[in-house]
Amino acid sequence: MRVLGLESSCDETACAVVESGEEGTVQVRADVVSSQARVHERFGGVVPELASRHHLLNLVPVLERALGDADVGLGDIDGIAVTRGPGLIGALLVAVQAAKAIAFSRGLPLVGVHHLEGHLLAPFLRDGPAGPPPPFPHLGLLVSGGHSSLVRVEDFGRYQVLGTTRDDAAGEAFDKVGKLLGLGYPAGPEVDRLAERGDPRAFPLPRAMLGPKGGLDFSFSGLKTAVAALLVDGPPGDAQRLADLCASFQAAVVEQLMRKTALALSRQQQSGAPYRAIVLSGGVACNRALRAAARALAEERGVAFHVAPPRWCTDNAAMIACAGYHRLRRGERADWTLNAIASLPL
Ligand code: KG4
Ligand code: ZN
Repeated sequence: MRVLGLESSCDETACAVVESGEEGTVQVRADVVSSQARVHERFGGVVPELASRHHLLNLVPVLERALGDADVGLGDIDGIAVTRGPGLIGALLVAVQAAKAIAFSRGLPLVGVHHLEGHLLAPFLRDGPAGPPPPFPHLGLLVSGGHSSLVRVEDFGRYQVLGTTRDDAAGEAFDKVGKLLGLGYPAGPEVDRLAERGDPRAFPLPRAMLGPKGGLDFSFSGLKTAVAALLVDGPPGDAQRLADLCASFQAAVVEQLMRKTALALSRQQQSGAPYRAIVLSGGVACNRALRAAARALAEERGVAFHVAPPRWCTDNAAMIACAGYHRLRRGERADWTLNAIASLPL
């Protein structure tokens, strides 16, 4: 089975072609992502109307390139998967309508995909030799620009959200703190890079929600406020102070994420149905300190660790095609009432 995936939930226009692989994985035949980062950079964040208009301009060229890269035509496609939410409504509508038009004109089965399901399944993408995919059940730590969640992943299509952020998402915290530090948008990759030269103990920043009432939820807005309080006179002029702030902030985020992940593992161990792996996903999963900490935690607890390569952690259509592939295989079909939904629970 060969599936075409379309994604336009935020500021990336993406199309991908995937095919059946081994053990629930899919082989990526084409994966094209057109980022609008440069359009939104000067505004310090995504401007929704501009995002919609650029998706409208970019989608067909991106689709043409994906089909060209895969060396297939629409006649070689067996099904279509599209992100139906959550995301910016005007942005989502572009790919949803395009997917419906292709499905209608070619008589193809269509399925709507939850954006976060795509992120969760990114470690099942393959484009060459790789080890076995994540075993079920596993604990998903999904950290992106819009979401931070711990998810019990029982099987394809069977998810239970265990905890989520009470305010800012982890990626949002990276971006907002980066803005305070005078960095560009999105700031996550730059904070990651600068933190390498900084001292994570230079500034004692708060680790929120670690008390018994915090449960498996996250909170990052207090951390952002604490950084802002250190910067009342503006971004640091001194390069070492900037690196130290990045390292201290990043360490506080990583520690909170790891403490909650460890707690979720312990709770499940006690219940007798232990997780077999920690699976890290979402744009913040590109962060090197977080990848290293999650890998170390998995080793310490004797479970496997899986994370996709960075290009599949940030927004892409291959992950949407993968989630759609499994839905289509289970016989799921969307009808012509398929619509975009801005806020959609997993
Ligand atoms: O998953 P994604 O591409 O989009 C959403 O669905 O939100 O995630 C984007 C987020 C941005 O907030 C970006 O700053 C963050 O991922 N990010 C990083 C890194 N690379 C991307 N955060 C920290 N360290 C990184 N290396
Ligand atoms: Zn995303």
